[in-house]
Amino acid sequence: MALWSGRFEEGADAFTQRFGASLPVDKALYAQDIAGSRAHAAMLAAQGVIAAEDAAAIDAGLADVLGQIEAGEFAFDVNDEDIHMAVEGALTAAIGEPGARLHTGRSRNDQVATDTRLYAKKRATDLMAANVALRQALIAQAEAHFDVILPGYTHLQHAQPVLLSHHLLAYTWMLARDFRRLEAARDAADACPLGAAALAGTTYPLDRAMTADALGFGSVIPNSLDAVSDRDFLLDLLYACSVSALHLTRLCEEIILWSTAEFGFVTLSDAYSTGSSIMPQKKNPDFAELIRGKSGRVIGDMVALMMTVKSLPLAYNKDLQEDKEGAIDAANTLEDCYICAAGMIATLQVNPDAMMAQARKGYLAATDVADYLAKKGLPFRRAHEVVGHLVLLCEKRGCDLEDLTLDDFKAECDLFEADIAGALNLEAIVAARTTYGGTGHEAVRAQLAEAKARLAAD
Ligand code: ARG
Repeated sequence: MALWSGRFEEGADAFTQRFGASLPVDKALYAQDIAGSRAHAAMLAAQGVIAAEDAAAIDAGLADVLGQIEAGEFAFDVNDEDIHMAVEGALTAAIGEPGARLHTGRSRNDQVATDTRLYAKKRATDLMAANVALRQALIAQAEAHFDVILPGYTHLQHAQPVLLSHHLLAYTWMLARDFRRLEAARDAADACPLGAAALAGTTYPLDRAMTADALGFGSVIPNSLDAVSDRDFLLDLLYACSVSALHLTRLCEEIILWSTAEFGFVTLSDAYSTGSSIMPQKKNPDFAELIRGKSGRVIGDMVALMMTVKSLPLAYNKDLQEDKEGAIDAANTLEDCYICAAGMIATLQVNPDAMMAQARKGYLAATDVADYLAKKGLPFRRAHEVVGHLVLLCEKRGCDLEDLTLDDFKAECDLFEADIAGALNLEAIVAARTTYGGTGHEAVRAQLAEAKARLAAD
């Protein structure tokens, strides 16, 4: 019989029992549930609501339940409906009457909101650590291949040469912002609903600040209706996970592209590749693809909860029970993606020659040739046109800008001198981008230091 069965004459039907249960999902919150109950019982005793001996028996009994769950010895029964009733039921079965006093001045509504907030805080913190590890792997590769040049792309067409270190660091900044979003989500969850009871507060002299403190919450939620019914802190977490999952899709997409025969920029380690069951030669970037694909479910989890909370009247509604599965899944999925991406990046073999060979194609120096003329006084628009003609000439001859003679250059514009060779040098082109945030070696060295300092602070 359910713990709430007093006013019922018929037992629940097996199907509805299972349909209504959240235990298969919310048993993941057992540690938070037990911590919340221990804090609540201690506070009830401190406020004289229950006897100190009862609180002590509850505390010891809950510690015992925790031990059983952690040892894998706890028999979860879906008829208990959810983790709250499973724990409380086991406690009361073990210690009798004191256990039956635990739920004084509390509802599962404030209990579940408390557990879920504690869980969200913990998982956001775990994700922040995994985020840092991935950034570490990217920074290590950026340092190891600092000087390597590859084509920078716009529209996936060769644009201007950039340093590989600069390219990799771009991802560390996206991830650093993801870290902030996760941190903000952690902070959004950092307020305690306990004491809101079912929806209206309670007649017992609860010390809400005491339970909040004991559970490590930064504050107490000021409105009992809001406390039990909002899940925006989970949406914040889901959004943070979604954006980061999207960033990972971009990184993985490039790894997939770069590991093709067409690019050959990188070689994935065997540990992060798979073979084909029919084609013996294949080495597929499955894990990069899987991370790219996993973003779909993370974003799906976010959208699902948005739809669940849409139009819900105050205060608690059972719809809210649907909040946890997606949030747990999104956090688990992103954590695995971070771990997988970090290993994949750390073991990635970079092929600098292939990158450089591509950087030599596609007139990557064109902008700098135009700048050369503009710096000699030709209006940039005019210079742009001159270089456009030179590129057209190269296209017709099937050569690159470097293959043109000084006479070819002069035929288009007499401002060209022998020093144009300098403007065509890829190393020089990269090094010249000295502005803050640019791809010049010195600028990237400064950026690397900044990224490392940021990593150390996170
Ligand atoms: N299992 C429920 C949930 O996850 C706990 C709260 C149930 N409250 C209620 N009044 N039915 O939301």
